[in-house]
Amino acid sequence: VDQLSSQVEDNTIFCLLGHNGAGKTTSMSIMTGGLLPDSGWATIAGQDVVRDKAKIRKSLGVCPQFDVLYSELSCWEHMLLYGGMQAMEHQQCEEEARRLLSCLSLSSKAHQRAGYLSGGQQRRLSLAVALIGDPKIVLLDEPTTGLDPDNRRKVWKLLQAQKQKSTIILTTHSMEEADLLADTIGVMSKGKMQVQGTSLELKQAFGTGYIL
Ligand SMILES: Nc1ncnc2c1ncn2[C@@H]1O[C@H](COP(=O)(O)OP(=O)(O)OP(=O)(O)O)[C@@H](O)[C@H]1O
Ligand SMILES: [Mg+2]
Repeated sequence: VDQLSSQVEDNTIFCLLGHNGAGKTTSMSIMTGGLLPDSGWATIAGQDVVRDKAKIRKSLGVCPQFDVLYSELSCWEHMLLYGGMQAMEHQQCEEEARRLLSCLSLSSKAHQRAGYLSGGQQRRLSLAVALIGDPKIVLLDEPTTGLDPDNRRKVWKLLQAQKQKSTIILTTHSMEEADLLADTIGVMSKGKMQVQGTSLELKQAFGTGYIL
């Protein structure tokens, strides 16, 4: 990732589009503190991602590209665990867990262990875990990859509502998804941000096509 410069306003959705290997996950990892930048800096709500990593973690919800779940824990246990990490009060945590699982059609799987869920169900659980406690910033790396059309629409609806409470940065390969969800779209290729703007601005500027 090289010379990436972006700014995301509070309570908006920023979609990072780009082909395989463009540098989307790498950029996300720098923001979560998983990777150290060789140079440059990034801040989340005014806090430096390297220096203030521990502080930032508390206001961050993350859905990694590849699900990181505890195979022996149920969906419900995942929700309580991550809600606890967000310092949620127990009753509120249970209510939120119930609401999120329901929005993502996982209510019937609440007590199933994550290891026994289908790929798309695991994906939705990863997203639910990222959203519990309404973290100030939510980073979602390809949250809808592997989901059927019906579940993808449910995720879109949930994210549109979540915007009131969180600032969301998500990566996707889907132009349709970016068009529908994003307040701002950034297109990455070869580690660089090639263009940024609202969907309308990009369509007006590149309506006839854009070659990465
Ligand atoms: N740990 C690493 N060390 C060195 N190079 C890496 C590492 N991880 C990824 N890369 C390289 O960095 C580039 C960007 O990878 P990245 O995972 O950020 O792409 P991406 O945009 O998320 O792609 P995808 O859509 O396939 O998820 C790739 O060329 C990849 O090979
Ligand atoms: Mg990736």
